[in-house]
Amino acid sequence: MVYQHKDLIGLRDLSKEEILSFIDLAKEFKALNNSDVKKSPSLHGKTVINAFYENSTRTRVSFEVAAKRLGADAINFSSSQSSSKKGETLVDTIRNMEAMKTDIFVLRHPNSGAAHFVAQNSDASIVNAGDGLNEHPTQGLLDLFTILEHKGSFENLTVAIIGDILHSRVARSDIWAMRKLGINVKLFGPPMMLPVHMEVFDCHVCSSMEEAVEGSDVIIMLRIQLERQDGNPFPSVREYSKFFGLTSTRMKLANKNAIVLHPGPINRGVEMNSDVVDNKDYSVILNQVENGVAIRMAVLHTLNLYRKSRNA
Ligand code: CP
Repeated sequence: MVYQHKDLIGLRDLSKEEILSFIDLAKEFKALNNSDVKKSPSLHGKTVINAFYENSTRTRVSFEVAAKRLGADAINFSSSQSSSKKGETLVDTIRNMEAMKTDIFVLRHPNSGAAHFVAQNSDASIVNAGDGLNEHPTQGLLDLFTILEHKGSFENLTVAIIGDILHSRVARSDIWAMRKLGINVKLFGPPMMLPVHMEVFDCHVCSSMEEAVEGSDVIIMLRIQLERQDGNPFPSVREYSKFFGLTSTRMKLANKNAIVLHPGPINRGVEMNSDVVDNKDYSVILNQVENGVAIRMAVLHTLNLYRKSRNA
């Protein structure tokens, strides 16, 4: 077992070997997911609670599918219908559900650091499913898995991450993991949607879409996270699309066999038009979603193995 920790909070502190161990295991679970009986008993008898304090489609459903395929009891907790509306704190809520003998919590929360804080205050394992602007580690892992499947190797790869980088926890998890794997990363977005201290990422910052796309093997487009900013961050959707959108014409500047990723949900007509989103020659967006289940199975399986080793 390469990854020996109770929780998965982010990719920033993971080693290259730990990152690759999740991807290697996900390959096995993907094969299982494509077999006739998509079941493994590795979490049989365990309880996994999806505690989501923000909306989600892909992450919540794929963690539920992953837990059930591994034989766990998977329960979905939605904060909007919970006693957090009556003022119960996050830690009290988690501790109360832990008292019901929960083994693993999958937590999405609007505050950066929430998953780390809960992990310090709970004996259950915590998987960060997105905390504020900080990290979304399983999205980062599934992006890497998808890139590896299509490119065969991480060596000599150039990845462009484009859009609302400031508010994107996906971008942060991708960047930390990609830099650890030696991938060249280019960043581009509207100036008001770029972090102030871009130098901490050790990435090349581009000054135009053309510069970002040209010579890239992988292009990751990001959604503008309107829910995390006050007011309208740019004059019009048309203007955003003109300066920061990925078009089929711009795709011609990318390297041969370049691929396009997007974490979803997509704002069609903003960061990309439908002819790019649905282009089967280079869009691998639904492959990402498929791989998300296998990665989440790999994460739940690994944390459960660690828990068993501690209890042995
Ligand atoms: N990629 C992602 O986190 O999507 P959801 O918000 O639908 O979970």
